[in-house]
Formats: sequence, C-alpha cells, structure tokens
Amino acid sequence: MTKQLDLLDIQGNILRAYGRFGYPVARYVFLNVRNTAKGREFVGEITKKVTTSVEWGDGPGKIKQPDRTVNIAFTYQGLKDLGVPISSLVGFSPEFASGMKGRKDILGDDGPSSPEHWDPIWRGNRETREKDVHIFISLNALAGQGLDWLTVAEKNRDDAYAWLLDEINKTEGGVVLLDGHLGDDDANLNYQDVRVVLDNNGVPTPKEHFGYTDGISDPVFEGVPYDERRVKGRGKQMPGGTWAPLATGEFLLGHVDEAKEYPPAPEPILLSRNGTYMIYRKLHENVATFDRYLEEQGSKFPGGKALLAAKFVGRWPDTGVPLVKAPDAASNAKFGAQLLSLNAALNAAQKKGDKESVKSNEQAIDDILSDFTYDDDMSGAKCPFSSHIRRINPRASLEMMNEEGDKPGSFKVSKDAFDTPGALANRRRLLRRGLPYGEVKDRTRDDGNHGIVIMMVNADINRQFEFVQQQWVNYGNDFKAGNDKEIILGNHSMDDNFPSKAVIEADPDSDQPPYILSKIPRLVVTRGGDYFFIPSMTALRMIAQGVIDPT
Ligand code: HEM
Repeated sequence: MTKQLDLLDIQGNILRAYGRFGYPVARYVFLNVRNTAKGREFVGEITKKVTTSVEWGDGPGKIKQPDRTVNIAFTYQGLKDLGVPISSLVGFSPEFASGMKGRKDILGDDGPSSPEHWDPIWRGNRETREKDVHIFISLNALAGQGLDWLTVAEKNRDDAYAWLLDEINKTEGGVVLLDGHLGDDDANLNYQDVRVVLDNNGVPTPKEHFGYTDGISDPVFEGVPYDERRVKGRGKQMPGGTWAPLATGEFLLGHVDEAKEYPPAPEPILLSRNGTYMIYRKLHENVATFDRYLEEQGSKFPGGKALLAAKFVGRWPDTGVPLVKAPDAASNAKFGAQLLSLNAALNAAQKKGDKESVKSNEQAIDDILSDFTYDDDMSGAKCPFSSHIRRINPRASLEMMNEEGDKPGSFKVSKDAFDTPGALANRRRLLRRGLPYGEVKDRTRDDGNHGIVIMMVNADINRQFEFVQQQWVNYGNDFKAGNDKEIILGNHSMDDNFPSKAVIEADPDSDQPPYILSKIPRLVVTRGGDYFFIPSMTALRMIAQGVIDPT
C-alpha cells in the first residue's frame, strides 16, 4: 500500500462527504474581494479554522469530530484579486480560468439551463467586477444524537455563520458577502442552504427530491485511510476480478494519476500539491414533470412504473440496490429485506460500540450496494446504457464494447487493449460532495425551491467533469447510443420537432423488443455554479501571506 497522504495538509471536504458523517445541514457562502491586503488577512483568519482531512476518533493522530466544519475555495478571479502572481495563474487550467458560465456550450447549459436563468449571483459573475464570486466558504453542521438532532445541527450552523459574518465585518469592506441565491418564493438570500431530505415524520432520509436513494458510490483512492472492503465497487476494476484504489492524482494535484503522470498544475508545486479543483453546481429538479413522465411511460413499459424508475438511474429508488444485482422487483424486495435487517444490526452494534459487528454489517451492506460491475450485462438488458449511473461511471464496460459479439446487441470482451479493465472510466471519475436544497411543497408543480447542490472534486475539470457532462451525459456515442442523452440529467430537447429519446434495452435472448422512451422532458435544470480551486493548507497560508514565488 502506498504511503498515507499528509492528511493535515488536505482540506477535509476533499476526502469526506460530510453528509455521510453526521452533518445533515450546511450553508455555502460566497464572497467578493475588494481589497487585496484585507482579503489576504481574511484568508489567514479563516485558515486557522479550516477543517483538514485528519482522522476523527480516539487514538494517536486522530482528533475529536468537530461540531462544524469550515472549508474554503477560490475562483480564478478570486486568486487573481488576492494577488497570486500571474506566472502562477497561467498554470491553472484554461477551463478553470474561464469559469462555468464560459463553458456553457460544452456543458449543455441551454434553454431553461442557460446562464440568463441562473440565480442572480451566478449571472453577474465575471462581468460586473463588484459581483464576481471570488471565495467559497462551506459550513457543515454536526447533528445532535437525540430527537433534537436538527435543532442542534441548525444551531451549529448558525453559530458558524455568526463567526463568519464577524470575520467578514472585521475586513471593513475588504471582503464582501454576496447575495443573489434564490430561496423559497424567490427570496434573495446571502447564502445557499442545503439539508438532507426529511420524510413525512421529519426523519432524515438518504433520498434526493425525485425519491431515489443517493450518496452511495464515492471513489476510493490511494493514500487515504479506508477499510479494504470499501475498495470493492468504489476503486478500479483489476484483471482477475479484483479491485484496487484509484491513483491519487485523479483527485489531488501534485500526485501521480492513472496515466502515471502528474496532472497539469500551477507552479510552484507548494501552491498546487494537495489541492484540487471543485465544480459547484446548483441543479433544480422538475419533480412534477418527473412524476408525470414516469406515470405516463410506466403505464406502457412492460416492466411497469417501479422498474422503469429504477431503469432511469440504474438503482432501485427505495433500496438503492443496483439493477445489475436486482433486475426485477422480486430480487429487489429480497435485497431490501436483507438491507433492513443489516441496517438494524448495524445500528445496534453502533449503540453497543461493538466494532467487529459494525464492520461486518457495513461490509455486508457494501457487498449488496457497491460491489458490482457491468461485465455480465454487456447488452444493457439489466441496467440501460442511458441510465444515470451507467453513463456517469460505466466501470469496465466501455473497453468491452469495441467488438461485436456473436448475437445481435452483444459484445466481445477486449482483453488486450488496456492494462486494467476499466482504464477508460478510471480517468473520468468524480468525487461527489454536497446535499439536496429546499423542500418540495407541492409535487404537482415544477417551480419552487428544490434540487441538489452537487460539488464534484477532480484533478482535471476538462478531462473528468466536462468530459462526462459533454460526452457521456449529453451525447451517447461511446455507449453506441448515438444522440441519446442520459435520462435524468440530459439537456433534453425543448423542440417538439426534435424530441429526445432513449432506449431501455431488452434481453437479446428474449423475444421482447427494446422499449423506446420518447419525448423525454427536461428533468433537471441548471441554476448556476462555478469552478473553484481548493488549496492545501500550505497553499492557503502562502496565499494569505502573499509569498507565492513561482521562480
Ligand atoms: C439532480 C441531479 C442528480 C440526481 C437526482 C442524481 C441522483 C443520483 C443517484 C440516485 C445516484 C445513485 C446513488 C449512488 O450511486 O450514490 C447517483 C450516482 C451518481 N451521480 Fe448523480 N445525480 C444528479 C446529478 C449528478 C451530476 C450533475 C453528476 C456529475 C456530472 C452526478 C454524478 C454521479 C456519480 C459519479 C454517481 C455514482 C455513480 C457510480 O459510481 O456508480 N450526479 N446520482
């Protein structure tokens, strides 16, 4: 195993999806720097409170889990206005310098997703100097243990926000809080709040607003402390059916990536090493259109509505079980019952502090939810090629698709082309952070304030996030699906003369024809976002002190 990374130097939001570690509530704040010296001083003060990736718990090298986390990132313009020298700035990637709005054509942000419809904070970006987003600060709040879990979390968040406002005030206008986030009834807010979705009894759920179980998969990479069991399904597929962690350089600058190269990064190395890029995207969910379309197509689809809902994502909404493991409702119900008892046993073990039992139950849950490949589903009959998870992480199924098999719709396995079976997908992986925002108050309407704030972390925005969004989400050629878009996220046509479609593949051994999803409406709409650089702790101190010397 490779040497452990310097966890004290890496910001905590890179390694941890806080929502899964007891932080169900967060507030995202965006700032504009008006004075370089005061801006640097501010960064220095915030840096003292930044949450690193150091492990939580008892024992050597570990710290107590904090009540709230603080993390900070910068846009290109932000780094420029904080005085990062031009000779360093030129080393950042062009797409980072251009920002999300400038990349709208690549990202497919058109029609209702185009920047003129974004929340005001993201519209003014890079055009009106005083409204430029320069700094991102995220405050995640730890929940309480009892019935007052949410009250405790909200208090932790409010305390953190009060502290931050105080720090901003101390700059006397050197750093300014930006408004322009739309909330309920289009209220103009100074922050973006996010929170887990609650069920009808106010109990937190792992769901997003369409109703799918979310937050299961997250890549595992070298140098990070993890249990061996987490690598299965989350790392990369290896010859012989085993799994290994991905190369660190896919997610952190200054480390070797899957191509055994260092990802392009700015000089000096102290500025970039252990830092990375983050894509912030606020995505509105058209829940009424989703429900209506699912109802309409589900009444015609031979497998019925519940199976069709699973086909959209590649996992069953209620259990999260992948379709390749549970291709029909009966097998989903069986896995669902197993998961219920495993989760109950896990909770009991956690209460008792029985570490061995916690581990074995977690392992069994992971085996069901995460440990899978598409190797036995090369026709897409179980998990459609246009489903969300197959388009976004095809695992090793693309390499296997370059030769037609003996039967129509089947493919031969190509064994020789690459060192590892999933070499193509391994270079497009994304860490996912963020939480849902808002509440669905009326499911018969699309408008309202509800969706997901998703933050993807990767070492190369163009090779990873933008490629996935452009080539795999909004275009289907790599999947032999022509112009078909990914069902959930695709920027489906708004023109009735050129409607969007996608294929739900049938088993080539059966006499069933494939099902064609026709006139797919736009289910997800972009409400804004931008590209950020998350510096290491070392780089943060250098930015604060103005001592970056690329020579
Ligand atoms: C409103 C928008 C979205 C919804 C409702 C949504 C929903 C889901 C769901 C239900 C899953 C399965 C659970 C899991 O594997 O954790 C998932 C997985 C995933 N999503 Fe999304 N998602 C959305 C946007 C995005 C975007 C914009 C991206 C990146 C371009 C993305 C990247 C991923 C990734 C990488 C996975 C894991 C796939 C795997 O490794 O198998 N999602 N999403």
